[in-house]
Amino acid sequence: MAKNWDIEKFKKTARAAAAEGIVLLKNDNNTLPLKKGTKLSVFGRSQMNYYKSGTGSGGMVNVDYVVGIYEALEASKKFKMNLTVRKAYEAFVKENPFDTGIGWAAEPWFQKEMPFSDEFAKKAAEESEVAVFIIGRTAGEDQDNKNEQGSYLLTDEEKASLKKVCEAFSKTIVLLNVGNIIDMKWVEEIGPDAVLYVWQGGQEGGNAVLDVLSGAVTPSGKLSDTIAKDISKYPSTENFGSDKRNFQSEDIYVGYRYFETFDKDSVFYPFGFGLSYTTFDVGIGEFSYDEIEGISLEVLVTNTGDISGKEVVQVYVEAPQGVLGKSKRVLCGFSKTDLLGAGQMQCTCFDIPKYWLSSYDDSGKTKHKSSYVMEKGTYRVYVGTDVRNAELAGEFTLEKTEVICKCEEALAPVKEFERIKPEEALGLCAKVYEKVPTRTLDPNKKRKERLPKALPYTGDKGFKLKDVEEKNVSMEGFIAQLSDSDLCAMMRGEGMCSPKVTAGIAGAFGGVTEKLSDFGIPIGGCSDGPSGIRMDCGTHAFSLPNGTCLACTFNEEINEELFSWEALDLRKNKIDALLGPGMNIHRNPLNGRNFEYFSEDPLLTGKLVSAQLKGMHKYDVTGVIKHFAGNTQEFKRHNVDNVVSERALREIYLKGFEIAVREGGARAIMSTYGPVNGIWTASSYDLLTTILRGEWEYDGIVMTDWWAMGNDEAGAPGNYQNVSAQVRAQNDLNMVNGNAGDNSNGDDLPVALKQGRLTRAELVRSAINICNFLLKTPAYRHMLGEESALDKELAAAVSAEDSKLQDMVKASFDRDEVELDVSKIKVEKGETTAFIINSKHKCMAELELVLRADNQPDVAQLPVSVFQDKNLIKTVTLTGMDKDFKTVTISMNEIFNSNFYLKFYFAQGGLEIKSVKLKMVKNLDEVFKRGPSEL
Ligand code: BGC
Repeated sequence: MAKNWDIEKFKKTARAAAAEGIVLLKNDNNTLPLKKGTKLSVFGRSQMNYYKSGTGSGGMVNVDYVVGIYEALEASKKFKMNLTVRKAYEAFVKENPFDTGIGWAAEPWFQKEMPFSDEFAKKAAEESEVAVFIIGRTAGEDQDNKNEQGSYLLTDEEKASLKKVCEAFSKTIVLLNVGNIIDMKWVEEIGPDAVLYVWQGGQEGGNAVLDVLSGAVTPSGKLSDTIAKDISKYPSTENFGSDKRNFQSEDIYVGYRYFETFDKDSVFYPFGFGLSYTTFDVGIGEFSYDEIEGISLEVLVTNTGDISGKEVVQVYVEAPQGVLGKSKRVLCGFSKTDLLGAGQMQCTCFDIPKYWLSSYDDSGKTKHKSSYVMEKGTYRVYVGTDVRNAELAGEFTLEKTEVICKCEEALAPVKEFERIKPEEALGLCAKVYEKVPTRTLDPNKKRKERLPKALPYTGDKGFKLKDVEEKNVSMEGFIAQLSDSDLCAMMRGEGMCSPKVTAGIAGAFGGVTEKLSDFGIPIGGCSDGPSGIRMDCGTHAFSLPNGTCLACTFNEEINEELFSWEALDLRKNKIDALLGPGMNIHRNPLNGRNFEYFSEDPLLTGKLVSAQLKGMHKYDVTGVIKHFAGNTQEFKRHNVDNVVSERALREIYLKGFEIAVREGGARAIMSTYGPVNGIWTASSYDLLTTILRGEWEYDGIVMTDWWAMGNDEAGAPGNYQNVSAQVRAQNDLNMVNGNAGDNSNGDDLPVALKQGRLTRAELVRSAINICNFLLKTPAYRHMLGEESALDKELAAAVSAEDSKLQDMVKASFDRDEVELDVSKIKVEKGETTAFIINSKHKCMAELELVLRADNQPDVAQLPVSVFQDKNLIKTVTLTGMDKDFKTVTISMNEIFNSNFYLKFYFAQGGLEIKSVKLKMVKNLDEVFKRGPSEL
């Protein structure tokens, strides 16, 4: 039987995907591809520390290896590497080691660069033919980029060094190992010959760069964002980074929608742009418009160059300005060709439904308020290989405005503000401002009018969840057996690092209490995400290229294939859902999490996320698409209010999610930390019920982000305990609780139920959502004791080291001092023993070891390394002379999660451990207590 898990094929797919995401922006002087045997000098310290990912939860995958750019170039033996230059960097990095920063979100955006003289560059140029200059950047969760040197801008040192290299070498290639687009003014100022965004390509990233530089792969990546001449040109820049309210006055005019409509001159590299080593002809075939089916269009791509390559066909629509105002271009279809050999052709057919050509009327100006409409007038359709070079492919005219889909006002802002709008009458691309329509329907009123009904509580009738599957009882009948307190417990996901699921992952949900589990409800496990599995106990997983890189592939197929491998990695680690893909819109280049997200365009985002979900669904696991919705900056993300029109929400910020639900079959969604139009998204009835479940007919689960607030109405402060507002909105799972059964977070569910602020039927509705989800998970099948051939195959593929981490000794830190069971600690050479400790308190603590050399020669060196979570907290080394027991006290990192790991690793045998005690030094419960929001 063919094997499913094949790590070599996984690597190959990841490498191919990372290579397809690389965007070639400039290639003068026939610089690329490099000829075999070319003598290369590699500059830039990122040759020593390739960024495989950005920072924060989305980047914390523990890997077996990372292939950096230099290593890949060198190992390929295709080039002659200048070792003098390399050695200089090695020496520099020895003196200036990588600065990880201290704590969460503290890693700097860039690492100190090595300064060098003109002579150094000139000498390198004498010894080699081509220079490769790597520029590295990172950013991430809780750390936006800044319009500062070292982040969005190059530093003076980087510019000076690049200038020296460009002057000394006849050919210089700049590689941008970055998470998101950066300022590009230096391209014209300094003039390197070739420039490529190589992004953060995951653990195979360096190999992908090698493939493109060597010509093994012809670049075919396209920009998923517009690169403007200056950050100030993005219309969102003005309001980006505010701490209280983020007014989105640019409205639907995000990215290329803005530039193509109002400010074409400020674009440096347009959306969809990317060069190739070959050339293509894009021929327009038949075009037709049908009143029911929409547009149908044929495009013929011919490789007119000498070598094989792929091209991306992009279709844009220009709708008539009408009364609403429209973007001059809106992407409504794209497709990547297969690999075409020289002279080969491929015909692609596009069927574009009318929904994609319509606009949302949030004002009633078309006389169809709260509807998607196609306004009367002429629609022009353009086809090309980026938004700028797309040519007219066909047009049609509507005599009358048509309603494409009638909706209901939802999520509209409560406060008045102004948004931009094009006004053609005032001259081409003139910008005017109009008032954004505000809310007329109160979501709380809607909820009251539409309260669900539930069967009365029956008590335990002996039905298990399996009886639902076997149709012995309906899901409603099954849930009716659960008491109110069981239902409340089910709304509480547990984590981080719950011992009830795979070690080290972010969350556990479903049958998290004994009672729930007695009803045969399994415990689902979910982990970050998006670019590979994060397991904080140190288990290894595969790290994928980042979201932006995958977006730039414009390739649905490769995204699907890559995520079917990812699905196997999830299955291998017994995880049901990956916390990703992240799919927020790149509203501004400075958002720190852009690396996890895809693009400024919702169609591209939605289609590629759908492909990734389809890949995961092949093996019955899924992605928790996030962050729903409007997380466009990290600064104050728990509180900052995203003030945005209903039209922009529906056409831009929700659209990708809508596609993932309707086309990708999404089954799990994570709401955001913060509010949209005054209501925290986790408690937004309009977002999670009216639109998501009502209009899109979504029937999966919604979970909060980790420790998220809720509020009762627009303007009311957010509160961590207000979980009743979340359940009312149909945010099914509040993540995360230390202990669901005893309500360790102190949420208001029981009280709200008593006071009538929450109904039992609302709890039942969410419990049904959760159980329906769980029925589809591997966790359910495992709970039934089933082990498929795939499970067996994957279990055999877990490394010995990783399986030790999954097989932990459980312990409770529930008193001021507890002793661990030392008989469980294996002290032989090379052994690792891991404990998972459930801590009752958040605290500062110490670890006290009493140990001695166990009959060893005096000169013996006997180390034991102690890790807390993934971090080494101390290596204690005794010698053979330590024949008497010694007490060693190690201070630990602050314990602020309910669960943490302690791991003991013996590089040598020969130690005897008498006792290990955990001692609380300071209780920090009060310090870490989550109070109401400070908004
Ligand atoms: C992030 C989420 C992540 C979660 C669990 C949060 O801080 O915003 O994206 O999935 O933590 O790690």
